[in-house]
Amino acid sequence: MKSRNSLILALLSTIILFVGCSSNNTTTKNNAEQKKPTDETKVSYIYQDDEQSKTLNKKGAVIAKISEVALGTALKKAIADGGLDNAIEFCNIEAMNITDSLSKAQGVSIRRIAQKYRNPKNKPTDVESKIFKQYIMEYLSSVPLKSRLAVNHKGNPVYYKPIVTNNMCLSCHGTPGETMPLDLATKITDLYPGDKAIDFKSGQPRGMWAITFENINVGNN
Ligand code: HEC
Repeated sequence: MKSRNSLILALLSTIILFVGCSSNNTTTKNNAEQKKPTDETKVSYIYQDDEQSKTLNKKGAVIAKISEVALGTALKKAIADGGLDNAIEFCNIEAMNITDSLSKAQGVSIRRIAQKYRNPKNKPTDVESKIFKQYIMEYLSSVPLKSRLAVNHKGNPVYYKPIVTNNMCLSCHGTPGETMPLDLATKITDLYPGDKAIDFKSGQPRGMWAITFENINVGNN
């Protein structure tokens, strides 16, 4: 598994370098555009179509994809090897070397956040909650969910991509006694008291990838 991971990482690092090596440690150009707030929490989205924004979008997409594939692969393997009980820890991105190495190599932080979180570490900020709520509204009106770029309080661009639930997720995020086995539900609540991440249905937005470009500052209004 280790050597396979490093091979995947080497390949993917190449892809990322190819996607864009021009933007790290650079620019102070303020290309954040303020969206009119509907309440007190403001989200500063980046809508620009300039080279830097395009590069950030591409890099964010690749990093989110790699993380998603790495996590999905680890999860499926863990389920195949030892069943759902064994797999519980594999839904934790911190347990994954690949995202660590990626973060270091790219100067990014990779998070997986959810409004209805299981691990309180994955709780979104107020701004992120607002972004997620917009995704929920879009989902409810059948608008296709697209990634977004926004600026955090430090002026770093953050790439957001919705994570959508599929049938496989329901064993651990579905309805206890229905789509989720009861014994597993008990085990999960023992590990995560106050778990909010249940009762999902296939196709619903479960959370978001949040890729923060910590080496880049675009200013923050
Ligand atoms: C084997 C059980 C299991 C399966 C299957 C599973 N998860 Fe999880 N999931 C967990 C656990 C346990 C956590 C808490 C991980 C941690 O401590 O960071 C979690 C956390 C998450 C989080 C981070 C936010 C939070 O709630 O803390 C997201 C997002 C998520 N899962 C999405 C999914 C999606 C999407 C699928 C299906 C593709 C899936 N999970 C399948 C057990 C599972």
